[in-house]
Amino acid sequence: MATQQRTQVGIIGAGPAGLLLARLLKVHGIESVILEARSRAYVEARIRAGVLEQGTVSLMEEAGVAGRLHRDGLVHDGVEITVAGRRFRVDFCELVGKTVTVYGQTEMTKDLIAARLAGDGPIVWEAADVALHDIDSGRPGLSYRLAGVEHTLACDFIAGCDGFHGASRPSLPAAKSRSFERTYPFGWIGILADVPPCSDELIYASHARGFSLASMRSPTRSRYYIQCALDERIEDWPDARIWDELELRLASNPPPRITRGPSIEKSVAPLRSFVSTPMQHGRLFLAGDAAHIVPPTGAKGLNLAASDVHYLCRALIAHYRTGNDDLLGAYSDTALARVWKAERFSWWMTMLLHKLYDETSFEAQMQRAELDYLAGSRAAQTALAENYVGLPF
Ligand code: APR
Ligand code: PHB
Repeated sequence: MATQQRTQVGIIGAGPAGLLLARLLKVHGIESVILEARSRAYVEARIRAGVLEQGTVSLMEEAGVAGRLHRDGLVHDGVEITVAGRRFRVDFCELVGKTVTVYGQTEMTKDLIAARLAGDGPIVWEAADVALHDIDSGRPGLSYRLAGVEHTLACDFIAGCDGFHGASRPSLPAAKSRSFERTYPFGWIGILADVPPCSDELIYASHARGFSLASMRSPTRSRYYIQCALDERIEDWPDARIWDELELRLASNPPPRITRGPSIEKSVAPLRSFVSTPMQHGRLFLAGDAAHIVPPTGAKGLNLAASDVHYLCRALIAHYRTGNDDLLGAYSDTALARVWKAERFSWWMTMLLHKLYDETSFEAQMQRAELDYLAGSRAAQTALAENYVGLPF
């Protein structure tokens, strides 16, 4: 039977943005309903990023769900960068007095789902055909189908946290929206394996054969990436070929201790920079991948979703507590100011570290000079460190 429900904030998407927003709102006494297109099992199995800025960790603390993160997360004081076999370290702690925490987005999602389902409010899994209504009015609503039955949800506000392919962004009036996009002529092959990481910290490596990255999820689980052609097929990359390539591209002195093992996940993904402006219209507010995408090179995607959520949550709290809508009105500008800086950093790191140019070109010499400058300059390393650990909210 069709149902009509009502809540304060209707949230579309149970990714990190939607789940964190729902949890923070609840902590501050604001009710919400989350509509998610996929099943719980699908959402909890999705392998994504793994590096949290201190600001993101603080939001998990404010949300009261940082217990496992503090127990199992790995605090990293810096990263390593290898350029053509020469390895150097950027020491975040020393340069900017901050750290990052390695903790899988998958784990963060599980923690937030568990908290939500322990009494915060509903997550409607497998909600089909989610549609937004009357976002220009003071009484917006959502409709969706569940097992073939139509449902509606009346709310005060809609938070579009439904990722790049969701229903929210297309609901903004096209005439008032503008998007900015950059695609890159390469992708990343990712491999996850239950083997110890090859180093204590992440290694970003620039190499004549292409970029590679050694990351991790825990002391016993490693995550590696290699730059590949856009049309690469994962079937052409048996595990042994990926490990061989990683050995070549990560080679340095001292050598990383790469332990091989069977992949538990393997995928190819293109890289993209994308921003849609504005991030709000009427009663609809976009957060996270629904509004912007960064290439993964600076580990900013998840952290940007978290900072959007922080701004949106603060604005909604002001609305419900004091009736002051200044923060809501400024949401898009406030969030975008930080988004653009993270877009710039992710683009810069991508262009710096990937193989992009013919070795004999002028651009290749510029790239080499910039890497050499980074290796030897405290000022350049400080700029990298300041952005990598996350600009202030
Ligand atoms: N209706 C309901 N739910 C939807 C719809 C829809 N039409 N379209 C997508 N969704 C759901 C997706 O299934 C997903 O669970 O919205 C969620 C969006 O989650 P993410 O794509 O993870 O986006 P976000 O929460 O903004 O997280 C930020 O940071 O590491 C990066 O891209 C990575 O996932 C990451 C992101
Ligand atoms: C990851 O561990 O998945 C990861 C880490 C750092 C990045 C990108 C991805 O820059």
